[in-house]
Amino acid sequence: MTIKRLIRDVRLLGSGFKREEIETYSLNHDDIFPHAHQFLSHVVNKSIVRPKINAFRQSCLLEDKLALSALLFSANISCPRIWGYFHPIYGYSCFGSELKCARDLKELILKASMDRVVLKPRGGRLGRNIYVIDRLLEGERGECYRVNGTEVDLVEFIESLTITPYGDYTDAYDGWIVQEYVQQEESLSELNPSSLNTIRVITFRGHNDEIFIVGAALRVGRLGSYIDNMDKGGVAVSIDSHSGQCGVGKFKAQYGSEVLTSHPDSGILFSGLSVPEWAEVCRICVRAASLVPTVRSIGWDVGCTPSGPTIIEANSEWGLISIQRHIGTGLLSGVYGEELRRLGICLPEALDTFPVALLKYIFHKLHAVVVR
Ligand SMILES: Nc1ncnc2c1ncn2[C@@H]1O[C@H](COP(=O)(O)OP(=O)(O)O)[C@@H](O)[C@H]1O
Ligand SMILES: [Mg+2]
Repeated sequence: MTIKRLIRDVRLLGSGFKREEIETYSLNHDDIFPHAHQFLSHVVNKSIVRPKINAFRQSCLLEDKLALSALLFSANISCPRIWGYFHPIYGYSCFGSELKCARDLKELILKASMDRVVLKPRGGRLGRNIYVIDRLLEGERGECYRVNGTEVDLVEFIESLTITPYGDYTDAYDGWIVQEYVQQEESLSELNPSSLNTIRVITFRGHNDEIFIVGAALRVGRLGSYIDNMDKGGVAVSIDSHSGQCGVGKFKAQYGSEVLTSHPDSGILFSGLSVPEWAEVCRICVRAASLVPTVRSIGWDVGCTPSGPTIIEANSEWGLISIQRHIGTGLLSGVYGEELRRLGICLPEALDTFPVALLKYIFHKLHAVVVR
């Protein structure tokens, strides 16, 4: 490593960027380093920006997938149907019956006449514990169930759920939702048929109360995966927020750093693709954002179906990487930074100097050792 690179690394790390951010945004490169301070770091976002722009109380409405669904339904905004709330003590189905055990779930699947449903944690995130459940009828064997493609004994599967995953979501959002499986529009299915490939759209309510789109990315899963999340290996493809045209794709740093011009499994080129009904995707996200005005900055996951876009979920703590990695000069260089400043948020105007950054870096390292 050259001295120049070392000094840059210290200045970036001391200023709050993590190694993953330095690599993902290529902050150490000659052409990016001079405006590295215009990238919003995870640390600044979490400690300075988010607490000021997103009210905790309304954020809960987004985190709770059951509450969000009810909210969207109340405004006639399309979202997947909820068949029920699965919980060993309080579970209920939309038909008014109990939904507390595997037998209840089997009955619900039959009653809903659905061969495929999605079971996911009521307060889940990062693509964790998303289960696509298929009911199959196989000749003499009769009915059997697959979860994410693997045949299971549904009773055993459900019993295993009640112990471990609840532990991840103890304090606020117990239980699971049973949701309609969303069938996607053909061009997105061709990209990767096993996952619902969603559009991540970022909305922002500016200082003058206008809600606008900050950026967007198409997330595409890998062959055989039922989800598209970058944290589980999915690709995020840039989207031009004016036209809805796709550009290039990238993985999260831990899955590889190359720029992708086509999907690694289907080989379909990203350029030339455009988001189906892009104007409608933007319209429903802006409308949905107006239902929670005290959460200024929201990341929406939107599925595109043959009959139009549908909101899968929303995040007040949306991941910066999938959006910012495609903005070569950083989120703070554009209208997002301008709006944050107008709202009175004090953003870094430059990276820390080398001595200051070095001291901060050493302090953080020592602090981490002491805390451990
Ligand atoms: N109802 C659904 N139908 C089909 N696929 C779904 C459905 N819900 C979620 N998925 C897939 O799982 C991914 C993660 O689901 P999501 O509800 O966004 O949970 P998380 O909060 O963990 O990101 C989605 O981006 C999509 O690929
Ligand atoms: Mg999501």
